[in-house]
Amino acid sequence: MEPEAARRRIEEAGQEQLLRFWDELSAGQREALLGELRLLEPGELAEHCQRAREAYIREGSCPQRLDDRMCPVPAEFLGSVRRGQPGELRAWEEEGLCQISQNKVAVLLLAGGQGTRLGVTYPKGMYNVGLPSGKTLYQIQAERIIRLQQLAGEKYGTKCTVPWYIMTSEFTLDPTQKFFEEHNFFNVEPSDVVMFEQRMLPAVDFNGKVILERKDKVAMAPDGNGGLYKALVDNRILEDMEARGILYIHVYCVDNILVKMADPVFVGFCVSKGADCGAKVVEKAYPAEPVGVVCKVDGIYQVVEYSEITAETAEKRNPDGSLTYNAGNICNHFFTVEFLRRVAGTLEPSLGYHVAIKKVPYVDEEGNLVKPSQPNGIKMEKFVFDVFQFAKNFVAFEVIREEEFSPLKNADTAEKDTPTTARRSLLWQHYRWAVRGGAKFIDANSHVIEEDARNPEREDAPAVCEISSLISYAGEGLDLHLKNKELSSPFILESHVL
Ligand code: UD1
Repeated sequence: MEPEAARRRIEEAGQEQLLRFWDELSAGQREALLGELRLLEPGELAEHCQRAREAYIREGSCPQRLDDRMCPVPAEFLGSVRRGQPGELRAWEEEGLCQISQNKVAVLLLAGGQGTRLGVTYPKGMYNVGLPSGKTLYQIQAERIIRLQQLAGEKYGTKCTVPWYIMTSEFTLDPTQKFFEEHNFFNVEPSDVVMFEQRMLPAVDFNGKVILERKDKVAMAPDGNGGLYKALVDNRILEDMEARGILYIHVYCVDNILVKMADPVFVGFCVSKGADCGAKVVEKAYPAEPVGVVCKVDGIYQVVEYSEITAETAEKRNPDGSLTYNAGNICNHFFTVEFLRRVAGTLEPSLGYHVAIKKVPYVDEEGNLVKPSQPNGIKMEKFVFDVFQFAKNFVAFEVIREEEFSPLKNADTAEKDTPTTARRSLLWQHYRWAVRGGAKFIDANSHVIEEDARNPEREDAPAVCEISSLISYAGEGLDLHLKNKELSSPFILESHVL
């Protein structure tokens, strides 16, 4: 579009403040400024700003609470690793591995977030939490995929692939791509890694005006992890999945160091229940834990974020003492490709936006950059789980926290969900696996280190043990390498030393 026409459209949308420095900008800068808003029609831009302002007024004066409309997930829709019979778990695992062996399962990583709480300038997946091997979250995930392909292939005599779709944003695409290239895609076949970008939306001030971050740049933010559904269409990802014959997708978020990619038990559970949509949950650790809860609102499945319920509801208990709203969302979802097609095709526009009030750097009237000390901007986001309402057959699946959930959200100055807690969770898990595999750990004096893996108070595992995911996906097969072995700490089991 001609710059003049684009300019007029901004003025029509009531956003002329974006053109405050127009006369000072070069032709290239003008083009870049207008280009950022290219995906928004003028009507849409005005609508976005108005929606943000209204949501701010509504939420600011009276945050939406859903307490009175909520009820927990009925037991018959909640599968469980803890309560499942061993035979049942095995059958689900076999079903999952069978689907994987037939190339019908893919994983999709949500990695477009800015990771502000962790405080790093690069994508979270590139983070190294300080494991003895120095592996990053991306490397750990890549190795789990490779091992899972091997497990499914060996069991069913096929050569199979679990394609890895990675949703990025303007902030994360380039560094993620570069990182994968520099590391030879961690030995995953590059054509099986498909990166794509989600859309961005302008941040708006409390008067409904789009914020300028620089004279020539609008303050933009990713449109939330629910931006996935538009991004699938924008980038023709469903076509790619269909061309590969994929039927089932495991969607997960980047920061959980224990994530079981394409977990065959979860996939098998969902497939055997005929589900089109599913969510993994863990029992909440304490009432105020900052996780969403999977529940029903007005009879419809939904995740209610921790900010959307009162402390009173979060603390409600059943007669046996357990929390009533106990199904903590760990951002691990199952979708059939058919379901995603239905959502992305027609239902996506009816998903509501969630409002986040943030500190957004801006340029003042003189063109100086200001870093506000108080929140000044509204960001609007869609959430990945808001599509549960469209499911014809939704299921939830409860897994064991120690085995599957330890997210990296905060820097080490915080108490929880930090690099230290993530590292500890993984090392504890590998220690337990090694002991179960028949290993004994010895100290510098050749004394056996007492096996107190069941002591929940202890923060670090009794011995440092890290096992490559290329060798074991979920603790399987370790007796082969470790039975009756005396190991000194730190012990690292890597595939190239076998
Ligand atoms: C998320 C869940 C919450 C759950 C918690 C568990 C959502 C909206 N909330 O919360 O219910 O209890 O994880 O750890 O899912 N992302 C994008 N694009 C964006 C924004 C985020 O891809 O525009 C990705 C992030 O990179 C991350 C994931 O979505 O991988 C989750 O985002 P995050 O902001 O960390 O969500 P939480 O608030 O931790």
